[in-house]
Amino acid sequence: MRVLGIETSCDETGVAVYDSDRGLLAHALYSQAHIHAEYGGVVPEIASRDHVRKLLPLLDECLAQADCTRQDIDGVAYTAGPGLIGALLVGASVGRAIALSLGVPAVAVHHMEGHLLAPLLEPDPPKFPFVALLVSGGHSMLVEVSRIGAYRVLGETLDDAAGEAFDKTAKLLGLGYPGGPVLARAAKTGDPEKYSFPRPMTDRPGLEFSFSGLKTHTRNLWQAHCDEENAQADIAAGFQQAVVETLVIKCRRAMQQTRCGHLVIAGGVGANLQLREALSRAGRKYGWGVSYPRIEFCTDNGAMIAYAGYHRLRTGAFESEIIRARPRWPLTELESDTWTAYSSKT
Ligand code: KG4
Ligand code: ZN
Repeated sequence: MRVLGIETSCDETGVAVYDSDRGLLAHALYSQAHIHAEYGGVVPEIASRDHVRKLLPLLDECLAQADCTRQDIDGVAYTAGPGLIGALLVGASVGRAIALSLGVPAVAVHHMEGHLLAPLLEPDPPKFPFVALLVSGGHSMLVEVSRIGAYRVLGETLDDAAGEAFDKTAKLLGLGYPGGPVLARAAKTGDPEKYSFPRPMTDRPGLEFSFSGLKTHTRNLWQAHCDEENAQADIAAGFQQAVVETLVIKCRRAMQQTRCGHLVIAGGVGANLQLREALSRAGRKYGWGVSYPRIEFCTDNGAMIAYAGYHRLRTGAFESEIIRARPRWPLTELESDTWTAYSSKT
């Protein structure tokens, strides 16, 4: 089965072709980050319009790379949420229209399920069950994955997502957008011990996260010390270390609680090298296996959507001819929701 995947939930247009026998045939990505950088964050209307401009050319490019045509596609998977509604609607409408024109099924894919399954695209995929640390721009959660489609949320953020905290802190420090990579770059020349930072929510039990206090602490530090030499890099380094150590502590708790032997890191913040190294170290120390997707599949991409969609389609999932787009879509609703939609198999 050959599945076309389409991702347009935020500021990246992603397309991919996944083949159940041959694996990922091709993927193409276009990032709008340089357009939004001017505004210091994603402007939803600009994002939607740019997806309209870029999606079809990118799709043709991806099919050419995969050495196939639209007629070779057996199913279409598109991101239906969560995300920006206008942006989602572009991918959903195009995906559904292509499926209709070809007479093949289309499935609405949950963006976070895409992130969760992205590590399975790698040559040495993790085995079930595993715990996933899912850290993106919109979400931070720990999820127990017992098989594809069975997700138990162990803990979530009570306020900002980890990526959002990186983005806001980078903006505060005048580092620009997108925040995660620029802050990580600035942190390389900083001293993480120069200022002290809290490790939020680690002094009490539980698997919840909270990053808004850390953000306020960082703002206060910046206001007090911005004139000092190297303050920008030192604060970036201290902030990054605080986020990383907090995530490591929570992962360790989740591994103890579930008695799972394998940890998976997914989502945009999973591209952070310090986080990857710290979790690998913890894995070696405590005896867990640790896997990540390649860096380009941590952030948004079409490959994870094609792959998650393939698994839905493989089990006979088939939506009636609707276009689904849900800006808010809790992962906990995924099972009951999708199966209700898929069961109207006409
Ligand atoms: O998964 P993703 O591409 O989009 C969402 O689903 O939200 O994640 C984007 C987030 C942004 O907040 C970005 O700043 C963060 O991931 N990010 C990083 C790094 N690369 C991207 N955060 C920390 N370090 C990075 N290297
Ligand atoms: Zn994402």
